[in-house]
Amino acid sequence: MLGKELSGFEDEYALFSNTAYCIGVGNGLDALYIALKACGVGPGDEVIVPSHTFLATWLSVIRTGARVVPVEPDPFTYNINKQSIDAAITEKTKAVIPVHLYGQACEMTSLMDLKRLRGIAIIEDNAQAHGATWNGKITGGLGDIGATSFYPIKNLGALGDAGALVTQNGDLAQYARHYRNYGFESKNLADIEGVNSRLDEIQAAVLRIKLKYLASWNDERVKLATSYLQSLKGVADIQLPHSHPQATHVYHLFVIRTDRRNELQSYLASHQIETGIHYPVPPHLQKGLHHLGFRKGEFPVAESIADGVLSLPLWPGMEVSDVEFVCDSIRKFFGY
Ligand SMILES: Cc1ncc(COP(=O)(O)O)c(C=O)c1O
Repeated sequence: MLGKELSGFEDEYALFSNTAYCIGVGNGLDALYIALKACGVGPGDEVIVPSHTFLATWLSVIRTGARVVPVEPDPFTYNINKQSIDAAITEKTKAVIPVHLYGQACEMTSLMDLKRLRGIAIIEDNAQAHGATWNGKITGGLGDIGATSFYPIKNLGALGDAGALVTQNGDLAQYARHYRNYGFESKNLADIEGVNSRLDEIQAAVLRIKLKYLASWNDERVKLATSYLQSLKGVADIQLPHSHPQATHVYHLFVIRTDRRNELQSYLASHQIETGIHYPVPPHLQKGLHHLGFRKGEFPVAESIADGVLSLPLWPGMEVSDVEFVCDSIRKFFGY
C-alpha cells in the first residue's frame, strides 16, 4: 500500500539525497530496473556496467533486453573510471551504471561529462553507499537517477526488502512513480505498462526512524575502518582499502585482499571471527548468465578480485577492541 509513511520517507530521503524527488520501490534490483526503463533502455541498447559488482547490477540490464557491456574496475578502489568506460562506448551505449562499491563513491565528474557531451544516461547504483560523497556531493543524486536498496544489512536498512530511486528530473520521477504501481497515473488508469513494486508502509516507517541515525552510524563505520587501517598498515601481505582523494567511503564493507584469502578466512573462523566474500564469483562466470557468452579469463581484474577479497567484521556498535582482536589474529596468521 502507498501511504503516509512512504510519502514522508520519500520527502525525507529526497532531502537527504539533495534531490527533488524520491520514489520508494520494493527492492534495489527493481530500483535499478525501473531507472533503466525510465531512461528508455531496451533491446538493441548497450549498458556499461562494472565487471566486479553484485549480480543485481547486471540482472537489471538483462531484464530490459539491453546488452550488458562490462568494464574492469580500478584494482585499488574497485570502482570503474573514465578510462575503462571510454574504451567501451559505442553508438549503441544508452547508459552507464557506476556502482559505488563497498561504500566508496565512484569518480562521478568524468561520468557527468559523458552525460553532458554524449547524452549517455548515468544511473548510479547506490545500494552500498548511503551517505558517501564525491567532491563533497552526496551519491545517488549526482547522475540522472540513483537507484538504491534498503536490504536489512545496508548502511540504511529496513526490516525486510525495500529500495528507492532519487532524481532531479520530474519526467523520470513521474515515470518511476507510475511504473512501480502497475503503471497507474490515477486510480485504475494506467498510462504505461508497469509492475507491482511498492515500498511497504511498515518498512517506510522503520526507514524514517533509522534515517535519523544514518550519519552517526556512518561515522562509527569510518572510525572502525580507521582503526583497521592503522592497525594493519604494516602487514605487507594484504592490500587495504584505498580511497580516492575526492571520494568519501562509508565502509558498507571493509574489504582487504590477499593471495592467501581462503587460508586466512579458515584461520579467522577457527578463532570465532566471521568474515565474508563480496563476491566469490564474478557475474560473467555465473552459471545462470552463461547464455551471455562470456568466458573465464575475459575479465582478469574482476576474477582476481573475486579470488582475493575478504570482508572483515564491521558494524555500528562494534568496539575498537574487537577490531584489535581481529587485527591481532591477522598479524599472527601472517607471522608478524
Ligand atoms: C551493489 C548492489 N546493487 C544492487 C543490489 C540489489 O538490492 P536488493 O537486494 O535490494 O534487490 C545490491 C544489494 O543487494 C547491491 O549490493
